[in-house]
Amino acid sequence: RPLALSVVDEIDSTNAEVMRLLARGECVTPVVTAETQTAGRGRRGQPWCSPAGENIYLSMGLSLSGGFSAVDGLSLVLGVAVADALEYLGAAPVGLKWPNDIFIDGAKVGGILVELQGELQDGVVHAIVGLGLNVHMTAAPAIEQAWTSLALARPQLTWSRNALVSTLITSIADASDKFQSVGFAGFRSSWQSRDVFFSRHIMARDGELQGVGQGIDHSGNYVLRTIEGDVAVRSGEISLRFA
Ligand code: BTN
Repeated sequence: RPLALSVVDEIDSTNAEVMRLLARGECVTPVVTAETQTAGRGRRGQPWCSPAGENIYLSMGLSLSGGFSAVDGLSLVLGVAVADALEYLGAAPVGLKWPNDIFIDGAKVGGILVELQGELQDGVVHAIVGLGLNVHMTAAPAIEQAWTSLALARPQLTWSRNALVSTLITSIADASDKFQSVGFAGFRSSWQSRDVFFSRHIMARDGELQGVGQGIDHSGNYVLRTIEGDVAVRSGEISLRFA
């Protein structure tokens, strides 16, 4: 499918715009970037801080065959695709915080939100993939967790949003194709090598579950070694934090 790229000044949410474009049923992969979002959305119903002109807000409408089951593992694959693109442009080392937060120097530099749009008759599922990446941002009062931007964390490089967007789109499209042909197995070791939780003490459910990070299993669940044994946490079920 050819890519149809729109670059807009302001939008409610680039994910919402891609959903509207997909609903038109044209045979293209819609890609939308915006300078700012008035209702940028993050995971678990959180807003996504979207100041104008500083960062990247990018969404792509990927079509996956094989129904909803084909989507398992996609969000981890996307984290690998984004980390690969950033490292290619000189940001290494880039970490991944399960399932798909993008980390540099122990702080969040980007996040990915995957939203699904109904299964079609031929088993094709639309996955709306949204990436928020902090590029030049230096102040953000509304963000509670530790965050950074490429310019803050890697000031020795000049960060071009155009170069980033083109590299990111290519990396995400290539990863999606590879995921369709070889599945999650083709990405597992690339994900593991960037795991920020690995061998760290972590917790879930406000400390109810505590253990040491062991990495992901073959389905992409996160494994914690607890005093009662290994526990696999399903993607989307809960979030993990450093203890
Ligand atoms: C997260 O919570 O970590 C995921 C954040 C995803 C934000 C991006 S910005 C572009 C796209 N449009 C949205 O409304 N959200 C995603």
